[in-house]
Amino acid sequence: MSDNPYSTPILAWYETNARDLPWRRPDASPWSILVSEIMLQQTPVVRVLPAWEAWMERWPTPAHLAKEPSGEAVRMWNRLGYPRRALRLHACAVAITEEYDGEVPDDHTTLLSLPGIGAYTAAAVASFAYGQRHAILDTNVRRVLARAETGIEYPPKTQTKVETALAESLLPALPSVAARWGVAVMELGALVCTARAPRCADCPIAGQCAWRLAGRPAYDGPPRRGQTYAGTDRQVRGKLLAVLRDSMEPVAKPALDAVWDDHVQRERALDALIDDGLVDPLDDGRFALPG
Ligand code: ADE
Repeated sequence: MSDNPYSTPILAWYETNARDLPWRRPDASPWSILVSEIMLQQTPVVRVLPAWEAWMERWPTPAHLAKEPSGEAVRMWNRLGYPRRALRLHACAVAITEEYDGEVPDDHTTLLSLPGIGAYTAAAVASFAYGQRHAILDTNVRRVLARAETGIEYPPKTQTKVETALAESLLPALPSVAARWGVAVMELGALVCTARAPRCADCPIAGQCAWRLAGRPAYDGPPRRGQTYAGTDRQVRGKLLAVLRDSMEPVAKPALDAVWDDHVQRERALDALIDDGLVDPLDDGRFALPG
């Protein structure tokens, strides 16, 4: 079968170099895979591992999580960052329990209709949990394809239709092979074709990579967003939410005021948490995780 020119070397590389991650094991449930994908979207693997273990231990099925208040999901999310993901996962568990008999749907369109599930997550779950043939385009895959096929160091800031079409055109024909290809390219991007220090000497497709063959030309596109955190509203929101997570009781305002001096920024951050449904302002003036 003539799959794309990278599939044989990348699949062989994956065979011996893949990390043994629990959500990739054959016995991983679709729900555990869905949880892992939501966690991995904006958090590195090393931080996700313990959080995922704890989460699956406590809520092994969607029904277990759906029974709890959404605030427990936020509390359990702990310091993974971008905590709206915890609310979305909770909403997803409720929808799966109520509408799909507690089983994670296997159909891409149905997955997409679940709360908080976008094109990437729907494709990842359909592919990794159910062995289907879908293009997987996360940041790692986009970078590998930008380099190997397009000859540029970094993909565009936001995903383009051209990238989607390219990823689809490269999909191996057999669904089970396509699913393995998706995770293998992702792993190559995570371990070898990294953003800042690509290890081309260890790359199974170095001889076919347009970027490397062109002499690894320096990136000259628009500036790429750095990941600044200190001093941002996001940091303040994290500090406020930590106070609520660490307390089993609702919290009075002074306890929140203590975490950040700039009151304008602090109030803005608190307002945003309330708007997002992550914090519940109680009638007695105290604040709690959502019920
Ligand atoms: N394995 C499966 N999905 C993954 C992801 N999103 N990131 C890292 N490893 C993965």
